[in-house]
Amino acid sequence: MSIEIPVGLTELLQGYTVEVLRQRPPDLVEFAVQYFTRLRDTRSQDGAGAAVKLGKGVMFDGEPMQTESNGDEDGSDESDFEPPPPSRYNRRVSVCAEAFNPDDDDEVEEPRVVHPKTDEQRCRLQDACKDILLFKTLEQEQFSEVLDAMFELRVQPQEHVIDQGDDGDNFYVIERGIYDIVVLIDGVGTCVGQYDNKGSFGELALMYNTPRAATIIATQEGALWGLDRATFRRLIVKNNAKKRRLYEQFVESVPLLKSLELSERMKIVDVLGMKTFSDGERIIMQGDRADCFYIVETGEVKIMMKSKHFYIRQNGVEITRCSRGQYFGELALVTNKPRAASVYAVGEVKCLVIDIQAFERLLGSCKEIMKRNITHYEEQLVALFGSSMDLRD
Ligand code: CMP
Ligand code: CMP
Repeated sequence: MSIEIPVGLTELLQGYTVEVLRQRPPDLVEFAVQYFTRLRDTRSQDGAGAAVKLGKGVMFDGEPMQTESNGDEDGSDESDFEPPPPSRYNRRVSVCAEAFNPDDDDEVEEPRVVHPKTDEQRCRLQDACKDILLFKTLEQEQFSEVLDAMFELRVQPQEHVIDQGDDGDNFYVIERGIYDIVVLIDGVGTCVGQYDNKGSFGELALMYNTPRAATIIATQEGALWGLDRATFRRLIVKNNAKKRRLYEQFVESVPLLKSLELSERMKIVDVLGMKTFSDGERIIMQGDRADCFYIVETGEVKIMMKSKHFYIRQNGVEITRCSRGQYFGELALVTNKPRAASVYAVGEVKCLVIDIQAFERLLGSCKEIMKRNITHYEEQLVALFGSSMDLRD
């Protein structure tokens, strides 16, 4: 079944609901009449098509619009219709802990959510989603459903997209903007990382029915795409059950991950993506900033290095190869340096990919093993070139 939700409807109703929850009016119908009359009046003052005001960011109707001021020019009391504070989105007020049973394939089919988009919006959305790891293992049809259900949001500097401890409402994909990840450590908000114009966040609360694990703050004006909780759970969480069946054994056999508990390995499986590369394709470029980590599932990759200290062939010198169960791309994440070498596919290669945030969160305890590897890398370089490079942080 496919039901089209008109652009702006969700936000319109959310705005009204938030006001009801804030003001608790005795007569909901009377309050609705006043609320929507005021909204219409403000729109006609500001010109048709003004964006519906949201507590957090603004939903657009195609092209970007100005945020509606809602200022009351006739000087009457505006406190009745004050929008929610700009730093907070219209939150889910409560979440019933809907458990997802992966084996229950006979669920009642939920209506498909569709937020209509212009061609231009769809292009931007597809571009923002092309490297999102959680979408990488979806079937084409499921991916299309996800894209249909996504809606556009604009955020302002210092706006909290997510607050730690809240219930999870949406999953977010970044189109643009820089976002701090702040986690309470011993009661003190600590910035543990940053999203820089790409990536996604907000999956944990939706996957595990837990409160938000971090606060996400926009540091500048930005653009996001949201995916509602119900669609996320129906498509992504269900797909995770399949991923677990598919990758459980393989992940168990990866030497690096042996020291982890089963539940920790499964959390890795839940967030990993799968990417395929064709013969000769470059997977990592030396000198680039690192944003993910790879484990070879099938095929082989070769590690090539260029250095001003060494005799250079055009693509650099082959240092080593990695095959099934081996990993690469960890060094830059562990040392916070640029990529130390380039990596190319040899024949067709399939890799499991984990983004830097999940790497930090889930593989912290494996970092010591990875750091020990640096000595081995240095020995390789000495054996090949007679001297090493500074690979350490
Ligand atoms: P969620 O818990 O739903 O909301 C906050 C999001 O921040 C979380 O999902 C992750 O997507 C993201 N995040 C990034 N880094 C971390 C981290 N170190 N700890 C917790 N959440 C993180
Ligand atoms: P990173 O620097 O993130 O990207 C290139 C990867 O090549 C690096 O991580 C290691 O995983 C891998 N690599 C393998 N052998 C070496 C080596 N001798 N020196 C540096 N990197 C190596």
